[in-house]
Amino acid sequence: MAIELQSVSILKFQNQIVSWFNKNARKLPWRETSDPYKIWISEVMLQQTQVSTVIPYYDRFLKRFPNLESLAASTEDEVLKYWEGLGYYRRGKNLRLAAQMIVEKFSGKFPDTREELLSIPGIGPYSAGAILSIAFRKTAPALDGNLIRVYARFYGIQDDVAEVKTLKVLWKLAGEHAPDDSKMTREFAEGMMELGALICTPKNVKCTECPVSKNCVALKKDLVALLPRKRPDRKREKLYEQVWLQRKKNKVAFYPKGSDPKFPDFMRLPHRFLKAPPILYEKKFKYSVTHRDFEVFLMKTSTVEKRIIWLDRAKLQEILLPAIDRKIIRSAL
Ligand code: ADE
Repeated sequence: MAIELQSVSILKFQNQIVSWFNKNARKLPWRETSDPYKIWISEVMLQQTQVSTVIPYYDRFLKRFPNLESLAASTEDEVLKYWEGLGYYRRGKNLRLAAQMIVEKFSGKFPDTREELLSIPGIGPYSAGAILSIAFRKTAPALDGNLIRVYARFYGIQDDVAEVKTLKVLWKLAGEHAPDDSKMTREFAEGMMELGALICTPKNVKCTECPVSKNCVALKKDLVALLPRKRPDRKREKLYEQVWLQRKKNKVAFYPKGSDPKFPDFMRLPHRFLKAPPILYEKKFKYSVTHRDFEVFLMKTSTVEKRIIWLDRAKLQEILLPAIDRKIIRSAL
């Protein structure tokens, strides 16, 4: 797969992206700052999570942890409390460890080199590139799922983008497109993300509004809907779960922290996993964790078990609970 790049056309591409972004950028809270700490938090939250979900979490998190020092001095449970409902909880745990490392090892100064950034827990090549280009206005490539889609379509890359050798080509492309001019680094990085989020989307692509559509290979060859090509996702697993909402006066029954291995830091409503759905139940809910889809059945009758912990309803806001349990409680209490 040889892709011929001309510096003139790259320059044109960069200019088209940047001027489109300057006109069309959404106003987002992390776009109002150059503080690397805040940009880092936003990038970590935005991995695997939609912008609209992230905004309230971002605002709450930064109110409580406005800088590296406050995050480094926190407890893991408190960070998780502010992360509760966002999913992929390792991200939250790593943030705190990373803050401690930056305070200790880098004297509280946010690192501004790729090598140092990559030594920090939870910062991989994408986050390092995003932080360098957005916060420090350095020339640095960033490649995530959105950008893979944009590059694969623009250059008509038909190879499987889940393969290492295709990813190498894509990272090289991202490197060749990252602007040298510090007046453009941030706008180009954010512009590419914005293009992937608003125009060059997985479905309902808006090619008529795309600033680079004139030279897009996928559009020319009618391949937009087929690219990027990816081997099928890991097969999804379907699982069933019974849940009980037991009440005694002002108290609600819970299983202790760690009772569900998917949520090692959280308490859970009393539950049991099943091979098939039950016949009688009160309400049905759904949630997903990575490649597993759970159907949850809220049961009518209660079962008292030894490992149950009775918690006062007033305490419910203080404990760590998965979003599914909060939803069930809200629906029934
Ligand atoms: N997705 C990942 N990073 C983003 C950013 N900075 N703005 C909007 N969407 C994003």
